[in-house]
Amino acid sequence: MHKAIVFLAIPIMKKIKIETSFELYDSVDELATPIQNLIQKAAEARKKAYAPYSEFLVGAALELENGQVIAGNNQENASYPSGLCAERTAIYYAGAEFPNQKIIRMAIVAGSTLNPTTKPIPPCGACRQALSEYEVKQNTSMELYFMGTSGQIAYSNSVANILPWIFDKTVL
Ligand code: THU
Repeated sequence: MHKAIVFLAIPIMKKIKIETSFELYDSVDELATPIQNLIQKAAEARKKAYAPYSEFLVGAALELENGQVIAGNNQENASYPSGLCAERTAIYYAGAEFPNQKIIRMAIVAGSTLNPTTKPIPPCGACRQALSEYEVKQNTSMELYFMGTSGQIAYSNSVANILPWIFDKTVL
């Protein structure tokens, strides 16, 4: 015996669409000198990353409103989840040492030593969440520039562009 299939039309009360955009550059030469310098700092930090397990090295450099640059890199651990990403290493240091300085921008350079890429590597979800905390805290957006070990650079004028509808203090 066949059962009749009944399709129920469930009305959609409200549909919300979130759009985002970012810019792509083919080379660092297309960027302003201060941005190139920040990317260079991130690349230098990447070379000092402690990533013996993944061999995926990441460097992050952030610029504070007073012009100071703070760099960080990924720090891995034999107990894998105890390691920390480059972005959070850098931003937590900035938060600890310069709690009242706004973060203007962050550059991130990432890539495996085994398999380097020229495509931009976006920050992981946990880092997006951590970075967004500081945008909310400082009440201004921070610019993000991220790339592989060479080649294209992606630019976003706010962390919110890559993490829409965030969980933040307003929901607590
Ligand atoms: N990693 C970062 O440092 N930043 C990211 O946004 C993604 C991943 C690190 C964590 C780990 O040490 C290695 O890259 C491989 O996941």
